[in-house]
Amino acid sequence: MAAIAEQEIARAAERMRDELVAWRRHLHRHPELSFQEEETGRWVAGQLAALGVEARRPWATAVVADLEGGEGGPTVAIRADMDALPVSEETGLEFASERPGVMHACGHDGHTAILLGVARLLASFRGRWRGRVRLLFQPAEEKIPGGALGLIEHGALDGVERVIGLHLWSNLPVGKAGLNPGVLMANADDFRIVVRGRGGHGSAPHQAVDAVWVGAQLVVALQGIVSRGVDPLQPAVLTVGTFHAGFNFNVIAPAAEMTGTVRTFDEATREEVIRRMRSLVEHTCAAAGADYEFEYNRGYPALVNHAEEARVLAAAARRVLGAENVDDRYPPNMGGEDFAYYLRERPGAFLLLGAGPREGSGAPHHSPRFTIDEEALPLGVRILSEAALDLLEAKG
Ligand code: NI
Repeated sequence: MAAIAEQEIARAAERMRDELVAWRRHLHRHPELSFQEEETGRWVAGQLAALGVEARRPWATAVVADLEGGEGGPTVAIRADMDALPVSEETGLEFASERPGVMHACGHDGHTAILLGVARLLASFRGRWRGRVRLLFQPAEEKIPGGALGLIEHGALDGVERVIGLHLWSNLPVGKAGLNPGVLMANADDFRIVVRGRGGHGSAPHQAVDAVWVGAQLVVALQGIVSRGVDPLQPAVLTVGTFHAGFNFNVIAPAAEMTGTVRTFDEATREEVIRRMRSLVEHTCAAAGADYEFEYNRGYPALVNHAEEARVLAAAARRVLGAENVDDRYPPNMGGEDFAYYLRERPGAFLLLGAGPREGSGAPHHSPRFTIDEEALPLGVRILSEAALDLLEAKG
């Protein structure tokens, strides 16, 4: 690292512990859905202003700010996502969401607090590091098309050499971290299928085309794509998440609508799943005399870390958490994450930082009982600050 000692960073992060918790709890109380984070954006910009950091607002829900170090040197970007989910909180926490039906159920409140902490920490060492750190407070990670593409279009990566970020991870106990020098998260796509049959009397199926029957066949047959249609060494998931049809017990449903998600790591596997889905829908409906609509939306691409930046990020995590607590061959997961777009544009890496209970398991991400261990907040500040300084030094 630069001239700033590890212990100084540790002490600085430790001193802001209460503030990190307060920031996170404020955000937790006032969650906003994807593409609606205007209040959050204003609040973040206000906190940055209090640190003497001027923020840019590419649009109403996005916040970008540059921390200037000494003259010259490269630019490293650090990203935090800020959005919440349409989930009704059931944690019973005293700082639970004050907005019915909206909840920070993925830890993005913590990500935002951590990045504010990094801003405060690096600002306090101004003059002792060279280059520039760009803070990307990104809206809308949870909803396709996501906020990352918009920020990139607005030039958020202009002049940036490298980009890093993290996700608080409830599957890992606090004090641990995982990453991978390659694929860490999946292609995350969604689909919608509408079967259009012909309604009729429940007692006379021969005069109708039963959309429930056709739809039910599709739900079962689609599962065969993963088990029979793709290379067993290539992971894939296909989940039908909704199925709506019909309106009365003795009426044959004229239509059935299904929505769901497909997750893969590999591009060829993704395309093969799509090809087979299209074919199954077409032929199953044709056999029954039904029409159909099939929409497939390619979502976030797989998140692929760059080896060198993953190494630097893992090394920073090891210094903060202890070597035995950082798994740099952490298995990939089927979640989607629009940080992937930054990694298509610039070298960089993404870390999963433990925020689950030290013993046992916590509620999963996106669950109404999801929460994070706030001990992870200062750890996140230290890891990202150290990694950013290392990356600046590496090119300085
Ligand atoms: Ni998330």
